[in-house]
Amino acid sequence: MGDLMFTLIWGSALFAVVQKSAAGISASQLHQDIDVVEFAVESDTASTVVDFCKRYECSFLGKITSKYFHIKFKEWTIRKFGGEKKLQDSAKRFYRNGDVFPNTRVSEAWRYGLNGSGITIAVLDDGIQVDHPDLRQSIDDVSSIDFIDMDFNITPDTLADSHGTKVTGLIAAEANNNVCIVGVAYASTIIGVRILGEDASITDITEAMALSYESEKVDIYSNSWGPEDGHSYTTFGRVSESALIDGVTLGRNGKGAIYVFAAGNGGKGDNCNADGYASNLYTIPITSIGIDGKAAHYSEVCASAFAATYSGISERKLTSTSLNSTCVSDLQGTSFSAPEASAILALTLQAK
Ligand SMILES: *[C@@H]1O[C@H](CO)[C@@H](O)[C@H](O)[C@H]1NC(C)=O
Ligand SMILES: *[C@@H]1O[C@H](CO)[C@@H](O)[C@H](O)[C@H]1NC(C)=O
Repeated sequence: MGDLMFTLIWGSALFAVVQKSAAGISASQLHQDIDVVEFAVESDTASTVVDFCKRYECSFLGKITSKYFHIKFKEWTIRKFGGEKKLQDSAKRFYRNGDVFPNTRVSEAWRYGLNGSGITIAVLDDGIQVDHPDLRQSIDDVSSIDFIDMDFNITPDTLADSHGTKVTGLIAAEANNNVCIVGVAYASTIIGVRILGEDASITDITEAMALSYESEKVDIYSNSWGPEDGHSYTTFGRVSESALIDGVTLGRNGKGAIYVFAAGNGGKGDNCNADGYASNLYTIPITSIGIDGKAAHYSEVCASAFAATYSGISERKLTSTSLNSTCVSDLQGTSFSAPEASAILALTLQAK
């Protein structure tokens, strides 16, 4: 294996670079108390990583992206360790509201026969109440996943985690049932991907797995989350960036998956150019206007903002589904513009 350079990315948001030498690699002193550690390892081929693991007693867990593989060390065998703290509170939410969409001409699209049927949207958020009476017909709960608890039950345990249920209603709430609202793409299929939650923090690896989850089924990944507003420059880790590149090149049978992101709620004091999720080449960042047709007070100004959809301002807020089978009418923020855009894109994909 010569001078092969492995980049190891630790499952809890640190990364290490290991230069393999003839002497092999030895245990780091930093984390002796942790006896199982997961890494993303960069390599051209899986077989190189499998060989590496045979030699250094790690377990090969599988492929994450086209250039990153998931491995697990039973104990630390890292010679040189350098750390970098990555996006921690990724669960920072962009709250928003919404109930009418005066200029999006969605009802015209519906009359034209478009409703999102045949289009699958992954909602990356804090979970979804799968048996909500206005959502249950849209959710593919067999394909949904909870990356926080590592199981397949995406219904949140706490009412504090209602964000994803609100986001989902705007996309896919059932039509003609007199419950809450009708989603813009009411016949689309939703796959819930739980990556946020109270006290949860996710890693570059988890973000990558979420952004490439069920990539053979998902057409659009709807993301109403991102770095904390008003602070510094933050961007994707290298594994999640790799997942995005795979998605836009290999997704949708080579036509490219679509990544919609909320552009952030930092207002005029913030700038979404500094939000590496919104300003990334492979994402579609969506900001908000209010019912008055002007930028919402929380909207950020940046060159990368791709489009705006309606969201709530004090004069009129948005309505959607929420936990405990309820409806809410107090939503505002770019979090609720992003799913509207995802749903409009679903109608567009269905049309062509
Ligand atoms: C969605 O539209 C398709 C085709 O226009 C139609 O067959 C289907 O019944 C519609 N679904 C719903 C839930 O209205
Ligand atoms: C959830 O719904 C149940 C049944 O309607 C109700 O008894 C309960 O108080 C609700 N919980 C909250 C926190 O609203």
